[in-house]
Amino acid sequence: MTILELSDVFFTYDKGTPDAHEALVGINLKIEQGLMTGIIGHTGCGKSTMLRMFNGLLKPDSGKILLDGKDIWENPKEISKVRFRVGLVMQYPEYQLFDETVRADIAYGPRNMGLDEAEIVRRVEAAASFAGVSADMLDRSPFELSGGQKRRVAIAGIMAMQPEVLVLDEPAAGLDPKGREDIFLGLDRYRRESGASVIIVSHSMEDMARYCDRLVVMNDAKIYMEGTQREVFGDAEKLMKIGLGVPEVTKLISLLREGGMPIAQEIYTVDDAKTALLELLGGDSK
Ligand SMILES: Nc1ncnc2c1ncn2[C@@H]1O[C@H](COP(=O)(O)OP(=O)(O)OP(=O)(O)O)[C@@H](O)[C@H]1O
Ligand SMILES: [Mg+2]
Repeated sequence: MTILELSDVFFTYDKGTPDAHEALVGINLKIEQGLMTGIIGHTGCGKSTMLRMFNGLLKPDSGKILLDGKDIWENPKEISKVRFRVGLVMQYPEYQLFDETVRADIAYGPRNMGLDEAEIVRRVEAAASFAGVSADMLDRSPFELSGGQKRRVAIAGIMAMQPEVLVLDEPAAGLDPKGREDIFLGLDRYRRESGASVIIVSHSMEDMARYCDRLVVMNDAKIYMEGTQREVFGDAEKLMKIGLGVPEVTKLISLLREGGMPIAQEIYTVDDAKTALLELLGGDSK
């Protein structure tokens, strides 16, 4: 089922001025409910602009954004309700923390929604757990935390609103491999346990291959490719035409195949490579 749809969306920054810049050109996209969708593409191709369309932070010049089949701009006065349903974690959100305690910061969204105190407490604790914010951090000042911890607090703050669609702009940028994995595993758990859809922008093909069900490739303000991992990574030539590529492990397995190793299926993640190689070598993949 489609939860979020962009239909023929156009957007130009500084429209009508000499600085006008077309950032989205004829975008048609359907986001499936309950899946993790990855958005990839070169810097400046329009990813963050498209994300701001999802929750009504920007309004398209033309075209429609449909949430659960309804045009989000039908009644502009209601747009703040859309922002509760589609939660956007912006790039480097750790710079947006402001409250005295981590708990208060995470509670900000649910409080704005007018929820009662018991529900707010429940949501803060659940979101902290999903985002990997430990209980002993909750009563500390967010400013005492490390960069990675602050990032998790900011993600928890959006999760606490329990959005049906959770959108994150490069949530793992600048983190070490363990930090990246913690964030992605937390997002995956949130998706599975809440049934929400998650949309992530990332520059890492490896992370996208490991965690996402569907991929959207943007190029030059347009959707360039869209589909399952197999559909997108299966067409390496098309990706390479715009200077992107398949995950490193996919390249390694094709080289092994060319060298005579009988690995029939395409491989996109290190885990799948391990299973395939162990099977071939007659070992136990467990
Ligand atoms: N507020 C703005 N005013 C004018 N132009 C903008 C504005 N924000 C973005 N742009 C331009 O619109 C285009 C798309 O920007 P956008 O931030 O959506 O790209 P992106 O894919 O998110 O890039 P990155 O990977 O660097 O985050 C770029 O050419 C950018 O320079
Ligand atoms: Mg961006």
